Amino acid sequence: MYVDISEILKGKVDGKKVSIRGWVFRQRSSGNLNFLVVRDATGRVQVAVKKDKIEDGGWKDASEAYIESSVEVAGEVKKDERAPGGWELQVSEFRTVHQGEPFPISKDLSEEFLLDVRHLWLRSRKLASIFKARHHLVNYLREYLDKEGFYETPPPVITKAECEGGSTLFEMDYFGDKAYLSQSGQLYQEALIFGLGKVYAFAPSFRAEKSRTIRHLAEYWHLEPEMAWYSQEENMKLQEDMVEFAIQKFAKEHVEVLEELERDPKILQKVKAPFIRMDYEDAVDKVNELGGKMEQGDDFGTQDEALLTKELEKPLFIHNFPSDIKAFYMRDDPEKPGTVLAADMLAPEGHGEMIGGSERVWELPELEKKMKAFGLSPKQMAWYVDLRKYGSVPHSGFGMGIERFVKWTLGLHHIRDTIPFPRTITRAYP
Ligand code: 4AD
Ligand code: MG
Repeated sequence: MYVDISEILKGKVDGKKVSIRGWVFRQRSSGNLNFLVVRDATGRVQVAVKKDKIEDGGWKDASEAYIESSVEVAGEVKKDERAPGGWELQVSEFRTVHQGEPFPISKDLSEEFLLDVRHLWLRSRKLASIFKARHHLVNYLREYLDKEGFYETPPPVITKAECEGGSTLFEMDYFGDKAYLSQSGQLYQEALIFGLGKVYAFAPSFRAEKSRTIRHLAEYWHLEPEMAWYSQEENMKLQEDMVEFAIQKFAKEHVEVLEELERDPKILQKVKAPFIRMDYEDAVDKVNELGGKMEQGDDFGTQDEALLTKELEKPLFIHNFPSDIKAFYMRDDPEKPGTVLAADMLAPEGHGEMIGGSERVWELPELEKKMKAFGLSPKQMAWYVDLRKYGSVPHSGFGMGIERFVKWTLGLHHIRDTIPFPRTITRAYP
């Protein structure tokens, strides 16, 4: 009977004879005794191999196995306080499935080397735990949106639309014509609200970011809800509810993953709506107060956002940015001319922006005026302009960078560890 190692660790097969399949995590031998730790996707367990108690070539296989050799082991499960995890498998059969070559990864290797062998490093406990966490977090975000009546609608990845400005577009040859990898599915989601009301895209977005930072990827996963009839106020409310839901459910149901990553669930338990709100101008003053250097009208850099959020326990919305430092599609605030009905949600503990959202320009004259001011050709975007010609309605939406959300939730230093194969300015391999 094959069992997951987690079943052994949970005490479900005490005293039974079971088989496990996995990879050698550690090996230590002394005379006629071989202690190995075997891991699978669910846990690690000590296996004790005694030379005189093992069948056929089992002793040879166990002695010659490398770290990461794949193995099948059968034996009796015994409680043992000295073993890591408290359980031991007393082996009667040991078979190496693939001995392979000595594993190239050992302790204290440079980050660059680990990135070169990322395809192998993915087996590490840390990365495996992060991707389990990512899976659960994404599921909870979807669960929330589903519960709120959203439909998931896929956006195109190849586009002619410059949603977020020309400077970070990846250009491609499209059958002799020019096209781009999408920076955001938002404009397409806007077309879908007329038939479906509330929709979201979950897809990769691409940014040719020239900067090397701990929070920028060239390819990232983007969750982009768009809602007919929503004001910016309702938009922000939805964002904080969604984040609270996902974080609370994760902190409650996956304590073991958090422990593995040395992240205290108590920190996450404090993440409850309503979040903090701050006007753009006050936020600039605050950055300066905290020792940063900004002028009114500047956009926040990575350092500025780190200063603003370092001491916070829950996310911060910065709202009413000056119109000219934000995107063309954001609606001007009639109550505060020169600023837009938009907010960025910044993650606490120094992580910074993880959501950008706004109410959209929904009336034709305002859109035409804005596109002109931003130097965008209404011809190339004619389909988008069209949406303001036939029963247009007020609407809002936002985009969350999934890797930014995971980075904060798990308290990770660098964004590259939140995605299996990170694409950055210096790397598209492996
Ligand atoms: O603020 P951004 O550029 O907004 C948009 O793209 C809107 N069209 C979204 C919308 O309203 N539907 O990007 C949204 C989020 C950011 O807050 C950030 O979390 C993430 O996308 N993001 C990145 N994540 C990783 N690497 C990058 N280079 C990112 N650029 C943006
Ligand atoms: Mg933004």
